[in-house]
Amino acid sequence: MSVAINPAHAWFNKVRYGMFIHWGPYAVVGRGEQSLNREWLDHNEYAEMACAWNPVHYNPQEWIDIAVRGGMKYAVLTTRHHDGYCLWDTKTTDYSSTCQAPKRDLVAPYVEACRKAGLKVGLYYSLLDFRLPGWLRGPDADPEGFARDKQYIFDQVRELLTNYGKIDMFWFDGIWPRSAKELDSVALIAMMRELQPEIIINDRLEYPQYSYYWQFANWREQYKGDFLGDFGTPEQGIYNDSNFIWESCQTSVSRLWGYTIGEQWRPDFEILRILVECASRGGNFLLNVGPDAEGRFPHEFVTRTNAIGDWLKLHGEAIYETQAGNITEFITYGYQTTKEENLYLIIRFWDGRPTLRLRGLKNRVKRAVLLSTGKELAVRQADGVLYLDGLPQLRPTALFPVIRVECEGSPEADVWGKTRTWQPNAEQFARWAEVRGTSVWRDGKLR
Ligand code: GLC
Repeated sequence: MSVAINPAHAWFNKVRYGMFIHWGPYAVVGRGEQSLNREWLDHNEYAEMACAWNPVHYNPQEWIDIAVRGGMKYAVLTTRHHDGYCLWDTKTTDYSSTCQAPKRDLVAPYVEACRKAGLKVGLYYSLLDFRLPGWLRGPDADPEGFARDKQYIFDQVRELLTNYGKIDMFWFDGIWPRSAKELDSVALIAMMRELQPEIIINDRLEYPQYSYYWQFANWREQYKGDFLGDFGTPEQGIYNDSNFIWESCQTSVSRLWGYTIGEQWRPDFEILRILVECASRGGNFLLNVGPDAEGRFPHEFVTRTNAIGDWLKLHGEAIYETQAGNITEFITYGYQTTKEENLYLIIRFWDGRPTLRLRGLKNRVKRAVLLSTGKELAVRQADGVLYLDGLPQLRPTALFPVIRVECEGSPEADVWGKTRTWQPNAEQFARWAEVRGTSVWRDGKLR
């Protein structure tokens, strides 16, 4: 399926893999990015801690090197999270890294490092700021306070989109408890597009900001005119829709986004599974890291992204610039993606048998190559079944082996590839069952 995209945003639907960085003074507390509100910490004590925070090891060049080594193509940094602390040189408040202990703009060198490495630059910005009662009460209860806080947001977004050259992506979060209408999100977007005509903006300006609902056709219908933003942001989840562009953001640990002392990490194969599944469904994967208070990435993150980066070196053509796959039923092996005339079989379950049998592909197959070893496989096709022979017994890579199936024409499914038993018309399955028999009773007797 193809998506109608603003040509300036086309890059987004090709990159497939990016790095989300949740970082701020909350790293000192070390229990995620929202300890302030989740633990109802004292605002003054938190602010004191935040103002003293000085990440002496901050070197975004190192972060971006890790992203590049890991095969990521873009990055998104939290310029301000729900605690309201600003990582850039802002004129709107002194609650910022330039006015407090670091005495410097932390966003500028990050943007520079991304650009130098050829990564697309994303900025995350939380509309919610737990220090602002006007924002929390809203325009009806506190017209003056709300107007002030709203202006504060507009001014900050303007700064972020004015002071750092080209910004490729803007990632809003936390419109709750307010709404897009109260915020005047349409005007905010208009201002942003004037400052950065090519910028791609996420979908969290609308309420309910998790456009999780976007996956449902009736919701899309209902919000058609109001949908603000260029791409969907399923959180810790994956959409199954390649009719619009989206990015699944997920943690590399079990739950929290900011640095968490004593966290347990998802294994590399699980992180890769998410990347592959996103690609097979036509979306991006934004993998999160929470650097520590000093500014370093936890080594657990680096070992995982390195392993995935190594895998991508050999198998990246099955991920980057691909389109949704799942052409045929393939769940007993893994996942599929497509690119032009190629169908990629990304195999999770390596059964050690010499032949892989694939039913449901309509095309004639010209050639098949096991990317993990570079070895060409023997191809046979008979009665609508494709057989790939010559597979090694041992899994040829620690992670997921990939076979590139080169087809005549774009990969397409035949009736077996298209039909699933849970679909309303099960005629295909009924005819298949007839081959075996017509009743349980007769089967029993025959045996
Ligand atoms: C949620 C959380 C926030 C996190 C974000 C990432 O909105 O409130 O802490 O930054 O998700 O998607």
